[in-house]
Amino acid sequence: MTLIEYSSESQRIAVDEIIDQFTIDRDKLDEIVSHFIKEMRKGLNAPVKSIPNGTENGTYLALDLGGTNLRVCQITFWGSGKLAIKQEKYEISDSLKTGHHSQLFDFIADCIHQFLIHLGDVHDSTLSLGFTFSFPVDQTAIHKGALLRWTKGFSAAEAVGRDVVEMLHEALERKNVPVKVVAMVNDTVGTLLAHAYENPTTIMGVILGTGTNAAYVEKLDNIRKLNLNGSGDMIINMEWGAFDNERQVLRLTPYDEKLDQLSLNPGEQLFEKLISGDYLGKITHNVLLDLVGRNLLFSGRSSNKFDNIGAVRTPHMSIIEADATDDLAYAKQLLEVEFEIPETTLTDRQIVQRICCAVGLRAARLSACALCAIIKHLGVENQKSAVGIDGSLFEFHPGFKHNLKQTMREILGNNADNINLEQARDGSGVGAALAALYAEKDHADFSSQL
Ligand code: BGC
Repeated sequence: MTLIEYSSESQRIAVDEIIDQFTIDRDKLDEIVSHFIKEMRKGLNAPVKSIPNGTENGTYLALDLGGTNLRVCQITFWGSGKLAIKQEKYEISDSLKTGHHSQLFDFIADCIHQFLIHLGDVHDSTLSLGFTFSFPVDQTAIHKGALLRWTKGFSAAEAVGRDVVEMLHEALERKNVPVKVVAMVNDTVGTLLAHAYENPTTIMGVILGTGTNAAYVEKLDNIRKLNLNGSGDMIINMEWGAFDNERQVLRLTPYDEKLDQLSLNPGEQLFEKLISGDYLGKITHNVLLDLVGRNLLFSGRSSNKFDNIGAVRTPHMSIIEADATDDLAYAKQLLEVEFEIPETTLTDRQIVQRICCAVGLRAARLSACALCAIIKHLGVENQKSAVGIDGSLFEFHPGFKHNLKQTMREILGNNADNINLEQARDGSGVGAALAALYAEKDHADFSSQL
């Protein structure tokens, strides 16, 4: 990064202090990894048995709810790792996310209906569907599980505590859509299943997108809470977004605190709030507003547009972080034209870029801690393995992949090179369809409640 010519000493000090707060040094990395491993051993949850080997075949519907869009897919598995997908995406409005659950599920039922009409596939016989539902669920069977809490800006009323599949079935009945939900999985589980279908060395499915979480393959012997005999593997949904809500090792900056306080779920999902796409833009915005308020940025001048809550989103950070022009022309365009800031100097734009990079870097370093904790817990550092990762942050955020890998090298040394971080696409759709396939063929084996 180029040297910044600060306009005053107090500006330099303020920016350096902020960067410091977002910095995670080597010792802190180790502390977070150790605490993560301890927490993992305390509570393992939501097991699903069996992972694919690529030979599965059949045609299934899949539904994906939990990111920015709703997706309905039809997936045909040809065996030998090959498949074909037809899909449609539907935008979920904020009012649906935060209204009554029946409106949200009615909308989903309508989308499935519309999809089937486009497919020309509406007949009397009932179709089987796998549902990727990407929120914390207390799952008691392959097609049964109560919503524990909403995350990522959802808060649809009277849903927490209710069986998710039941809510969807009620809506499908209300709308007369001949579809039966035979399996429900988390997106991380779907990603793991789908990636394992392509690459059998897969040990983990990770989402680094609007939200963040991971699922991994655990040896049965390790699951102390389960009173099961025998050996084999099980998939564990970590729900790592809720890691260290007790703040034993996580340090929140005042900007993170503000984000948390204004969120729909204060005190919850703290790890996720420091990492995922739903939040990074908001944290950055909080920093920039603070600097403007202290007359240390944009000569203290903001705009109505820039003052709006939620004005800065994570994709804006991507534009600024990726700006390699001498005068940060893309950042200038964004700040002055889109956000209507009256005027910005090169120093202003360099400061903004430095802040964006610091927030993005912290997210990548924290993600690396979580990944390495699972790898160490499994003791697979020396083994060539694949991690399937999906989500906009991993796929598109500038420098994210590089920072993630670099931090893994800091934690694991050369062993980090045994772990392939692979782009997983469509895990939510394909994984849900695979889960449906298992459920129908009676391969699925969910534990009784833990
Ligand atoms: C949810 C997880 C999900 C993750 C990624 C989190 O907010 O709690 O269930 O896997 O987002 O979508």
